Amino acid sequence: MVLPLDQQEARLSETRAYLEDALATIPEIAVIAGTGLGDVVPPEAHLQTIPYTSIPHFPVSTVESHSGDLVRCRIGKRDVLLFRGRFHLYEGYTPADVGFPVRALAALGVQGLIITNAAGGLNPGFRAGDIMMLSDHINMTGANPLTGPHSPQWGDRFPDMSRVYSEQLRNGVRAAAARLGIALHEGVYVGVTGPCLETPAETRMFRLLGADAIGMSTVQEAIAAVQGGLNVLGFSVITNVNNPDDMQETTLDQVIGAAAAAAPRLCALVEAAVTDWPEAGRHVC
Ligand code: HPA
Repeated sequence: MVLPLDQQEARLSETRAYLEDALATIPEIAVIAGTGLGDVVPPEAHLQTIPYTSIPHFPVSTVESHSGDLVRCRIGKRDVLLFRGRFHLYEGYTPADVGFPVRALAALGVQGLIITNAAGGLNPGFRAGDIMMLSDHINMTGANPLTGPHSPQWGDRFPDMSRVYSEQLRNGVRAAAARLGIALHEGVYVGVTGPCLETPAETRMFRLLGADAIGMSTVQEAIAAVQGGLNVLGFSVITNVNNPDDMQETTLDQVIGAAAAAAPRLCALVEAAVTDWPEAGRHVC
């Protein structure tokens, strides 16, 4: 159901007010943890945990592989807000629900967002366990979090999408990956609704469309973040590689296992990104 504008604005300001009050400090950067990546920041670095159930108007994650709490944590020398658990269209949430936490971040004044996900590889050069930094995305969900009533407080009605994933931040991560000896691909992520996986014919089509990895998240959050003026980085952990001519079965256990195995490398890249992130108020492109 699409809520009228005044109700949407009221909800967002209640969520913002709650988080402003609850959080000891408001970090400048947030990270959304994908499937199997909730432990990307070790528990000893957690400073404060707020269950989603206590945040007004927050959707509640229904997926077992995602817990549901917002953690203020220390990554390198900076405080970061970590979303452990995210919302997917396949759970039945509306696009606006999926984008809501990101809109809340923008309302809080958070200026950067790192989106992570578990994804299927479409690029035949990829292997399970590889990490891909997003250079761009294709939204094939047929849904958009910006549809419905619009408030100018949220940003532009028609946000430009020519540079979703900051070039400057990506340059920094690429250099850090080389320094740390972490293999890093870069490519295009295609977002679908799921929850079923793709057929061989669909897999062939998405590869033909120019996608390197496929998953069921990220695009709604990235769109909401662009509208809110956040600088965005995205990372996919490739949990399986889909070859349309020799399609193998993919299981949730496989996805969670491969994502968890890549978590330490992803954590090192996220730490490098956070460390290099420009100070507040500077928009990068
Ligand atoms: N397809 C879609 N989503 C996914 C996949 C996949 O192969 N692997 C992990 N998430």
